[in-house]
Amino acid sequence: RKAILPVAGLGTRFLPATKSIPKEMLPIIDKPLVQYAVEEAIDIGVTEIIFITSHAKKSIESHFLPNKDLEESLRNKSEAEYIDLINPKQFENIKFTFVNQEEQKGLGHAILLAEDYLNDEDDAVAILLPDDLYISSGKSCLQTLADIYLETSNSVIAINQVPNKKLSSYGVIDPIKISEEIYEINQIVEKPKLGDAPSNLAVSGRYILKTEIFNHLKNIGTGSGGEYQLTDAIKDLISSEKVLAATYKGKKFDCGSKEGYVKATLSLAMLDKDISKDIKQSLESLLSWNLYI
Ligand code: G1P
Repeated sequence: RKAILPVAGLGTRFLPATKSIPKEMLPIIDKPLVQYAVEEAIDIGVTEIIFITSHAKKSIESHFLPNKDLEESLRNKSEAEYIDLINPKQFENIKFTFVNQEEQKGLGHAILLAEDYLNDEDDAVAILLPDDLYISSGKSCLQTLADIYLETSNSVIAINQVPNKKLSSYGVIDPIKISEEIYEINQIVEKPKLGDAPSNLAVSGRYILKTEIFNHLKNIGTGSGGEYQLTDAIKDLISSEKVLAATYKGKKFDCGSKEGYVKATLSLAMLDKDISKDIKQSLESLLSWNLYI
């Protein structure tokens, strides 16, 4: 029922664009990046989105709260067809909660701040890192995890294969294979040194974790990068209960990097029936442009 979205990061890889605009608000075509993750959560039945945010990111808050003035102006201008784009029906019964993270102390610290917003009825919580954007024709990545959680009652995190030289940017698991797509996590390590990774299966930005994770988050010390790492709390969790990992068939784009952001934009443009034909043709002619050579 509840999803945590950490969005307090500085977005340094996208400066100067992110000097006054949060990176999560950068558009992929016509929708801010963070909205894709929010919709993925709402689609599995989440009713409360808990943003861990910073004071500098008020625009995220404005984006998800209804804008009645704009709605009124659109209605007066007979442009009512846009109203669902600004105040979507899908968001009507969703509670958006904003928690301020005063200091950047890592993903583990950010997630722990959401604990006060959970109650005894919450057995598990979804976590989505909005930088990771998933596209597929079938069920979403979070839905895949939710189905596994509902079947097994085990915490489950999304993983994907990453080339060896890039593994040190991620959490990496030591897997015990259960089926083609599902593994039990034997060990997990945050940002292993080159050559030390236990496999090439890296943690990507979707998790469904049992709320026991909060007890572990309280007990971890600082880890990789001198920050409190969610991965270290998961490592503690697996010493007391089974935690699963699942691969996912769709495509994942790391929109925190320039190349991932551009690839996601291109990919969604090709899937957009209004512009796909034009974009495909333009790409062909752009590729033959001799300016690049
Ligand atoms: C975070 C997690 C890491 C995970 C990654 C996925 O790292 O700590 O385990 O693999 O997200 O995107 P970050 O990208 O915040 O450094």
